[in-house]
Amino acid sequence: MNEIKLKQKNIFLVGFMGAGKSTVGKILAEKTGYSFYDADQYIEEQAGTTITQIFAEHGEPYFRDLESNATEEMAKKENQVIATGGGVVQRDRNWNAMKNNGITVYLKASIETIWERIKDDTTRPLLQVENPVETARELLNKRASMYEKADIIVLTDNLSLEQAADEILALLNSQS
Ligand code: S3P
Repeated sequence: MNEIKLKQKNIFLVGFMGAGKSTVGKILAEKTGYSFYDADQYIEEQAGTTITQIFAEHGEPYFRDLESNATEEMAKKENQVIATGGGVVQRDRNWNAMKNNGITVYLKASIETIWERIKDDTTRPLLQVENPVETARELLNKRASMYEKADIIVLTDNLSLEQAADEILALLNSQS
């Protein structure tokens, strides 16, 4: 492996569902030698059940508390690429954990790109509604300014996920 040295303690990938956070995160981890963590997977392992079940049994606020706890827990370690869940940007508590422990990168994509990636997915409880594309559009609009708080923003509409990872690395390496 040809590892690329980074100055950042951790890299937090933020972005909407289907933005490619997990895939890009795995590629970045491979290229840097950092460990890869997927926040949703971490939450599922801790809870011993799926995100779908957590939403169904306990509701969204309960899930958000698990997500905040997981974000703070994961942020404690070093040399990790962390793919967060799409809603992590909604709480200041999560931003504090991320910004104090690494660099945040927003994988920005249009609703068209996102919808292409998630239209057949049934594992995202927020989109199991009558008109999922409209719901996704509204949620993306509502969260747009929250995602933009990230330290680095990468537009991914015209990039492969491999190219997005390379662009992130170039931007991270050019930072002092
Ligand atoms: C959510 C995104 C999901 C997952 C949960 C809620 C959101 O993660 O955390 O379904 O609020 O946008 P992904 O962004 O990995 O799909």
